[in-house]
Amino acid sequence: MQYRVLVDVDLPDEIPEMMNNRCELHILAHGDVSDDKFASAQGLLTYGHPIIGGDFMDRMPHLKIISNFGVGVDHIDLSAAKQRGIPVGNTPNMLDGATADMTFAMLMAAARNIVIGDRFARSAAFTHYDPRILIGHEIHGTTLGIVGMGNIGKEVARRSRGFDMDVLYHNRKPDPKAEVELGATYVSLNDLLEQSDFVTLNVPLTEETRNMIGRDQLRRMKRTAILVNLARGGVIDHDALVEALENNWIAVAALDVTEPEPLPRDHPLLSLDNVVIVPHLGSATRQTRIAMAQRTVDNLIAGLTDQPLITYVV
Ligand code: DGY
Repeated sequence: MQYRVLVDVDLPDEIPEMMNNRCELHILAHGDVSDDKFASAQGLLTYGHPIIGGDFMDRMPHLKIISNFGVGVDHIDLSAAKQRGIPVGNTPNMLDGATADMTFAMLMAAARNIVIGDRFARSAAFTHYDPRILIGHEIHGTTLGIVGMGNIGKEVARRSRGFDMDVLYHNRKPDPKAEVELGATYVSLNDLLEQSDFVTLNVPLTEETRNMIGRDQLRRMKRTAILVNLARGGVIDHDALVEALENNWIAVAALDVTEPEPLPRDHPLLSLDNVVIVPHLGSATRQTRIAMAQRTVDNLIAGLTDQPLITYVV
């Protein structure tokens, strides 16, 4: 028997293969999914972050499972899913290493002018070695502030050891085990912002973390500080970030995520030189994406066959 499954955007090619002909897939982003396909859908695969609310779920009266390709589920109304008895699966743990690697890649790209340097080296303006240009920020021996000491935050802290960085962290509550293992020091958010050379955001997007980095917070940061966001765009107030970057309250922002995603073409962040921006690549390595795909399919099939999901949020 084939299950009917709706998918929000095109997902990696391995997914249909992993499903082994057990599912008939319909991609919502193609715009041609009929009402009767909604009405008969038993599964929903999500990734692209349109908001999946209760109304959307109600178009699928036979829906048995929402399986999310990713750990973050801020785009799914979890209480609506719970009320309707629809389990929501996600892919925690398997992307921590890749996301922490990318955090460092973004941090280093921002600190050492890699993107702007690449553009310059390709241009006719690069005529000779000039020791005065594109002077970056030291990384080793500086202070790293990690906002959110979850699994990804801890992986970021591990990587910082190779750079001899002092690690400050802020979390809902202190994590004494992480302090012993990683040599990290718990501080208030304000202290972290005031003392860190690099601030990395590794929190989920929730009511509590939405706009947690706004005007006040940006004003507290060092003028030489670099802000790295691999969490969700909504964690930073973008208007405040534009103001901070235009007025050099901070040195650079390195953004893997924005809100909305993508930003409108005329968004001021896209024309600032002190921004490094990539299109949500935190977990984008082949190995990690295959592991995520497998877990997404395993959760989906579990939900469709009334088995407990392997990893889930509700
Ligand atoms: C996640 O897992 O939440 C990543 O952002 C990929 O979507």
